[in-house]
Amino acid sequence: MEISHVTKDIHQLSVTVRDMLFEGIWEIPKGVTLNSYIVKGEKTALIDGVCGWDGVPESFFGLMEQLNIHVRDVDYLIINHMEPDHSGWIEQLSNIRPDFKIVCTKASEQLLSAFYGRSENIIVVKDGDTLDLGGGKVLRFITMPNVHWPDTMMTLEEETGTLFSCDIFGTFGAIDNVRYDEQLSAEDIAMFEEEGLRYYSNIVGAFTSFARKGFAKMDNIEVKVIAPGHGIVWRENPQKIIDDYADFIRWQEEPRTDRVTVIYGSMYGMTEKAVAYVLEKLEDYPVTVNVHKVPETSWGTILGDVWSAGKVILAMPTYEMKMFPPMAAVLEEIGKKKVLNRKVFRMGSYGWSGGAQKELDHMMEELKVNWTFVEPVEFKGKATEDDFRAIDASIEALMV
Ligand code: FEO
Repeated sequence: MEISHVTKDIHQLSVTVRDMLFEGIWEIPKGVTLNSYIVKGEKTALIDGVCGWDGVPESFFGLMEQLNIHVRDVDYLIINHMEPDHSGWIEQLSNIRPDFKIVCTKASEQLLSAFYGRSENIIVVKDGDTLDLGGGKVLRFITMPNVHWPDTMMTLEEETGTLFSCDIFGTFGAIDNVRYDEQLSAEDIAMFEEEGLRYYSNIVGAFTSFARKGFAKMDNIEVKVIAPGHGIVWRENPQKIIDDYADFIRWQEEPRTDRVTVIYGSMYGMTEKAVAYVLEKLEDYPVTVNVHKVPETSWGTILGDVWSAGKVILAMPTYEMKMFPPMAAVLEEIGKKKVLNRKVFRMGSYGWSGGAQKELDHMMEELKVNWTFVEPVEFKGKATEDDFRAIDASIEALMV
């Protein structure tokens, strides 16, 4: 764990985790930070926490003492949302100081009882409520229900304009000993932008309609620093992550027309050969192409790329009269995340019978994602010259 100074009387305690699956599902090849913050007025508030990894909470409490703050001195614990990656140590904190006050929304209160059996010393706040810590530090609470849990809120420290934004404005990705945007090179910023998109699509994406409503509240908040639950603190240019999130939210329904994501699976190379042909064709167009093979590439990485891409190419063979199973699994997840309004081309090989297309058509009806398909191309065994001509025509129609 590491400690750092955010701004006047506000500190960050952060832990970086790697080599694990976030939420038990999502690959994080570049790691992720879990951020907790201390706001020191006459009273002390701890905003969010971290999970029980890396010797937490002992290391966490130890670091607080470096700030001359003992756990016993924490008057308020602000829970922006109850997901256990931010609240996993409440029980240990309760053992040290049972009477600290938890500040949270009504929905959090119910979850607190369910997860930690805690039902006392809770202050329930509503949108716009404030908490005066004394010494010029006033916290304002801004509810953001369902971004990402039902109880979510953000907390604004009014004196410094520091917005503790919870999951919104978070990113995957971590760089050792780097916590603030002004410490980053342009290349690092690009990495966090990419990891932000992956984080958004994997974790928040399914709740985009709520994120859109919550995001509109930013118009009424004067923000100087954005301090999210995950990732970098944006204090030199907070507008950068605000603009990125505006894109992420918009791309659910209005993706970029200059991006193509190719997702393919292949058993014996017949479909893969057709994919190689398609990739060569795409070189003639001014687009960014991302290519992922299933099951080799993780769902999370594919989701990140599909989230921004207006055009999608699906290439998979028929397998036991259905879609190649890893493709069906990833498409199901893409549908659940509500990746809407894509233009799509599907092709693939079959042996003794087709079936992949039929299952795909059925799945699309069920998912209601409003994908528009150009003419599919299915070939028995390997693609023939006629099949390649049909692929040419479909690619042309896709790229219009
Ligand atoms: Fe990091 Fe929704 O929590």
